[in-house]
Amino acid sequence: MKPIIEVENLTKKYNGGVTAVKEISFQVEQGEIFGFLGPNGAGKSTTIMMLNTLLSPTSGRARVAGFDVVEKPDQVRMSLGYISQDLAIDDILTGRENLYLQAGFYHLSRKKASERSKELLDLVALTERADDQVETYSGGMRKRLDIAAGLIHRPKVLFLDEPTLGLDIQTRHQIWDYINYLRKEMNMTFFLTTHYMDEADALCNRIAIIDKGIIKVIDSPASLKNQVRGEVVCIQFSETSEDKIADALPIISSLSIVENVKQRDSGCMAVVRDGDTAIPEIFRVIHSKGLKINSVTLKKPSLDEVYMAFTGKTLGNERESNGNTHRTVRT
Ligand SMILES: Nc1ncnc2c1ncn2[C@@H]1O[C@H](COP(=O)(O)OP(=O)(O)OP(=O)(O)O)[C@@H](O)[C@H]1O
Ligand SMILES: [Mg+2]
Repeated sequence: MKPIIEVENLTKKYNGGVTAVKEISFQVEQGEIFGFLGPNGAGKSTTIMMLNTLLSPTSGRARVAGFDVVEKPDQVRMSLGYISQDLAIDDILTGRENLYLQAGFYHLSRKKASERSKELLDLVALTERADDQVETYSGGMRKRLDIAAGLIHRPKVLFLDEPTLGLDIQTRHQIWDYINYLRKEMNMTFFLTTHYMDEADALCNRIAIIDKGIIKVIDSPASLKNQVRGEVVCIQFSETSEDKIADALPIISSLSIVENVKQRDSGCMAVVRDGDTAIPEIFRVIHSKGLKINSVTLKKPSLDEVYMAFTGKTLGNERESNGNTHRTVRT
């Protein structure tokens, strides 16, 4: 079967002269959850907008559901749903009215609009609140309604820009569950951007890391993690002296066994070749700078380190993924 998204040498040069996307090529298969990760200004939104026909490419080609985005924009739009970072729902209307409005944009009959709204409100657990005005909804409820609205025309592909930004853990997990459910039950395809590494790890079959308009790597989360060799040592200090930490980091970084090191809150995180050998050496440096250690964790590389290796930057999200921690020592 042909891939549902086909991108070939796609390029966008803005009028101001910025080339935001440089000859990127990739394919997404039907039923995949494909993640697009990259620092601010990497070209993620520009790519999504070209695939959504909201922006015309400077060169290259893209097809969604078999339709060329330049030649067949109407067919492309009917095949996809786009849930932007900003909510697209109307506060004055009720949840159900918002879905009817959206159904109208896609020329669905009243009967279809009513059936699908009922079904979608159920899916996102908003049936009880369906006839309340959206202005009385919580942030998580609004986002769930927004996703329901994006699904009203049963798109083959759903584009989600930062679907869970700012939502609490419980709501984030609910949204992951909907995405997985829709993929399984309807073989829907998802293309999402996220700044949460745990989200990309838990949800995506494949991830593309894009930086300065160029795709650095595309692979499954598991293979990406295998590409970063070594172990990660995370150290928490029991006091936060910025000066002492700033003194210690360059010395730790210069140790031959340390690949790279960065500060994390009141501690640091180092990628090392071998944890057992590196920890005593790192401890020596820390003690010599008068810092006290609260805890040490040794773990396998997570997607954070992969991202760091490919972009030289850390993501805004500083949460630890505990899934692969294999040893924690309290001192
Ligand atoms: N309308 C525009 N005109 C000129 N330059 C633009 C325009 N929109 C975006 N850019 C530039 O294109 C580059 C890519 O921007 P884009 O919005 O695609 O990045 P992004 O990866 O979505 O970033 P973020 O994570 O901040 O949302 C940036 O350098 C940006 O300044
Ligand atoms: Mg963006």
